[in-house]
Amino acid sequence: MDEASAAGSKQRRRRVGIIGFGQLGQYLYEEVCKQPGYEVVFIWNRSIEKMKDLVSEHLILRDLNDCSSRHPDLIVEVAHPSISAEYGMEFLKFADFMIGSPTALADATVYKSLLGAAQSEHGLYVPAGAFWGGQDIQKMANQGTLKGLTVTMKKHPSAFKLVGPLEEKLKTVLDKPLTLFKGPVRELCPLAPNNVNTMACAAIAAHNLGFDGVIGCLIADPNLESHVVEIEVVGPGQKGNNFSVKTVRNNPASAGAVTGKQTYGSFSSSLFGAVGKGKGVHLC
Ligand SMILES: NC(=O)c1ccc[n+]([C@@H]2O[C@H](COP(=O)([O-])OP(=O)(O)OC[C@H]3O[C@@H](n4cnc5c(N)ncnc54)[C@H](O)[C@@H]3O)[C@@H](O)[C@H]2O)c1
Repeated sequence: MDEASAAGSKQRRRRVGIIGFGQLGQYLYEEVCKQPGYEVVFIWNRSIEKMKDLVSEHLILRDLNDCSSRHPDLIVEVAHPSISAEYGMEFLKFADFMIGSPTALADATVYKSLLGAAQSEHGLYVPAGAFWGGQDIQKMANQGTLKGLTVTMKKHPSAFKLVGPLEEKLKTVLDKPLTLFKGPVRELCPLAPNNVNTMACAAIAAHNLGFDGVIGCLIADPNLESHVVEIEVVGPGQKGNNFSVKTVRNNPASAGAVTGKQTYGSFSSSLFGAVGKGKGVHLC
């Protein structure tokens, strides 16, 4: 072995901790294990039974408060928004943090505290998920030219996990599409915490509008066999002839699936792209 390859083989691998071992966590675990230059250093799940026989015993973390002892470079949350509220600030003291459930950031106190914690050394990474064109929208927000952003998500009723009034409204869906909600993303996130991560990502990219200015529209459509995300951007110009972009993302999804198939691939790309940007908040 020559000197250069000897040095390469000794290069430290990026150490990843995964929080949540559901659909997405199990997928990411396999993807990280396959990726040269990366290693999983812990997996935490609320119930340990779910990891038994699927994960080496030495990777199972029993207490999330102990995760710094595994010296992760990147912690990835794919469990529940409550994890970021409770532990996110702590994680950012010693690792980069990729927030898989960014609906947590609709809570202004949580967002502010994570923003603050991401100002010292480590970065807060927000995966694009099903959000298409995020970099372009962020550029417009940086320049102050973004005037309006509406994100419409349409899914089969069985794909929704809703809370409170929206859960009740969902029960009234018959054979036609029904608009469950249209309004600020800030109001929608706590009512559909598992379904509107894409909208939360949009509100972060469109930071000049934020969670109060970005409009979310949620539609239950019993005829759909896919998850549809429509993004409508409005920029400068005369009324009737202003800058505008509309994208429609159609992602096949089996009945009852919260996450469409192509979003898994987007998620692992985000994980491998969540590196080297330093402090601050980064779309990835
Ligand atoms: N950003 C995106 O585009 C995007 C896409 C898909 C899923 N997600 C989010 O990622 C997370 C995981 O998604 P999934 O499809 O793997 O879900 P899943 O239901 O398959 O798995 C969730 C896992 O987290 C655990 N969990 C659930 N509630 C918890 C809580 N309150 N505290 C701790 N652990 C809890 C469960 O035990 C389960 O193992 C969800 O929050 C989901 O909203 C985000």
